Amino acid sequence: MVGTGIAGLVAALEASRIHDVTLVTKSELAESNTKYAQGGIAAALFDDDSVESHIEDTLRVGAGLNSRRAVEVLCSEGPDRVRDLIRLGVAFDREHGELARGREAAHSRSRILHAGGDATGAAIEAALVLAVRESAARVIEYAFVKDLVVTGGRVVGVDVIAPAVGARRLEADSVILASGGAGQLYRHTTNPIVTTGDGAAAALRAGAVLSDVEFYQFHPTSLAVPGNFLISEAVRGEGAVLLDADGRRFMTGWHPDGELAPRDVVARGIARQMAEQGGTPVLLDATALGGTFLRERFPGITRVCRDHGLDWANEPIPVTPAAHYWMGGVRTDEWGRTSIPGLFAVGEVACTGVHGANRLASNSLLESLVFAWRSVGVLNAPWPLDDHAPIEPADAIADSGVPFTRGDLQELMWNEAGLFRSGEHLGHAEEQLGRWSPDDSGSVTAQENANLLDLSRVIVRAALAREESRGAHYRSDFPASRPQFARHLEWTQSQPARKVAV
Ligand code: SIN
Repeated sequence: MVGTGIAGLVAALEASRIHDVTLVTKSELAESNTKYAQGGIAAALFDDDSVESHIEDTLRVGAGLNSRRAVEVLCSEGPDRVRDLIRLGVAFDREHGELARGREAAHSRSRILHAGGDATGAAIEAALVLAVRESAARVIEYAFVKDLVVTGGRVVGVDVIAPAVGARRLEADSVILASGGAGQLYRHTTNPIVTTGDGAAAALRAGAVLSDVEFYQFHPTSLAVPGNFLISEAVRGEGAVLLDADGRRFMTGWHPDGELAPRDVVARGIARQMAEQGGTPVLLDATALGGTFLRERFPGITRVCRDHGLDWANEPIPVTPAAHYWMGGVRTDEWGRTSIPGLFAVGEVACTGVHGANRLASNSLLESLVFAWRSVGVLNAPWPLDDHAPIEPADAIADSGVPFTRGDLQELMWNEAGLFRSGEHLGHAEEQLGRWSPDDSGSVTAQENANLLDLSRVIVRAALAREESRGAHYRSDFPASRPQFARHLEWTQSQPARKVAV
């Protein structure tokens, strides 16, 4: 088991009931993207809601690229898995004894559970860490997974570097990758420093198929300070509004749902507004919600604002979009099985097809929970035949030996492969990425940078190949969706490409 966000912890906990489990993580057990999730977890748990409505909302936002079957699994099994979390001790917030629920963009109902106000991920992570510590799973912290070990076409283990044990091979009958996303690809991200896409890059090198990698979601509102602390969409769900430098609301001009339009629309609306006002951040005005409400409902955001000298109960705060969630990843079936026997992927590293071209807010913790749980159910099952069309090989990018820093790469990706893309800018990014070479010092940082480089190259290629705009992928030279692109683009090592409908 690789990774200790919600997906890795759930998989480890479930599997350790009957399997011999080793859980490795490159930081401490409790560190992951999950810990920073604020808004919550979406599930159709209330009488005025339905699984069908959750399915519809998820499909609408996914812009025609979701796997309907995966979405049905997510929305129908989600409520039971959330009840599992409650049984495990996750104390979701309540009002008058009933589960409290928030609203986020593009949900037709209020169905988002939260805990500790805006500390949902931290509450889930804490309960799962406790349970895993008490389980039979063996935990190795600060172990960096360098590569997957493939023998005879099957994954049989991982090579790790861990200060405590040095370089070491861990053998396994199966490997469940739950290593999270790759927010560190971009200059601005809400993700923690550990999100360098290590699992996806290792899977790519091992020959696994990656899918939908061009779809990266940018959260509209991160605090415009170093570190880009997330300002949950739930704040807008409660009624906060976005203002330009002159104090005027501008999102209502872009979409009838204004501040609660789909995330990509709001993020691009903010970026356009920022460009118009010379690059300065826009403002999020939550003052109408009142100091007491803000303190109680969003204690974490209140604290971070205060740490930066901002009093959001009395003044609007500066916000900017930031890379938040990668819809693409290692392609899996509805049980987390990848294209390589023995290798599972769950959580953000996976592309189950649930999110399509854009993720509905608060569906990612749910996806991790549901598919991690399912993957354990088929650990001993025969591996299904891959019935996808064969992959066409393409030329690999030859490194030209030019060194780069992580900052160089993040800047390039932000400017050329971020919220607004075009053939010209992506072409420039592709050339630049082709010139850079990873440093071969063997350090963990160098390996992370190599992983980011590998993923940048495949993301840029995919973004170039997708000559249309769809969901989170916006091409200013192809601003509309095109029917011939209503399909997935899939990629394998050295590099890429298969551009066939699947
Ligand atoms: C948020 O709280 O705005 C983030 C929720 C999510 O990304 O699903």
